[in-house]
Amino acid sequence: MAKSAHGIHSPFVYKFITELLEFHNEDYYQFTELAEVRKQLSKNNTVIEITDFGAGSKVFKDNKRKISELVKHGTSKRKFSELYFKLVNFTDSQFIVELGTSIGLNALYLAKSNSKSTIYTLEGCPELAKFSKKLFEKQNIKNIYLINDTFEKAFPKLLNEIPKLDFLYVDGNHNYESTLKYFKLGLEKNITTPFLCLMILIGTRK
Ligand SMILES: C[S@@+](CC[C@H](N)C(=O)[O-])C[C@H]1O[C@@H](n2cnc3c(N)ncnc32)[C@H](O)[C@@H]1O
Repeated sequence: MAKSAHGIHSPFVYKFITELLEFHNEDYYQFTELAEVRKQLSKNNTVIEITDFGAGSKVFKDNKRKISELVKHGTSKRKFSELYFKLVNFTDSQFIVELGTSIGLNALYLAKSNSKSTIYTLEGCPELAKFSKKLFEKQNIKNIYLINDTFEKAFPKLLNEIPKLDFLYVDGNHNYESTLKYFKLGLEKNITTPFLCLMILIGTRK
């Protein structure tokens, strides 16, 4: 087994490790800006009412959440969002779908990775969709298209409308059957990067 990147024979895996995993995060100025947005959101005590369309929360008992709590428990961790940013960059993905917007923080990472890409982010809860939309406007982001509807209704429809799917991040309704269903829908669209599987694994992390 290879002990360092230099012992790896596959050109793809070598490129993946040296250009993506070993690349220093300090070199992305966007990460500093996005960390500041995260910091501001984690101080935001606005309460919003959640409409749950997914597998529910293991942390929260009622449907009222502070934005600060959602940063802690309902949003991808900084290290993962930075990894997705780099994956989008590495794969030069143009058509990106995120299932589960929450407060919109991770969608910002995907959008800032490649300004020529389009991020379609789907969120069932109207209050979360409203909050995220405002965040995108405030950040002057033009390449995010937010769809406020259930994955079940909006995802198949979206797949019919977009020319191709390069990158799929399944991050909502974390149960086995639904995750598999979204995965199969993505496969039917002939997803162009192999990261669908990786995303699915991360998607089922909870
Ligand atoms: C874990 S959060 C998404 C976090 C976001 N991707 C991030 O990384 O910051 C999951 C979101 O998916 C939404 N959701 C879950 N199941 C859904 C469904 N079936 N249709 C639409 N939205 C759903 C929830 O309302 C929740 O906001």
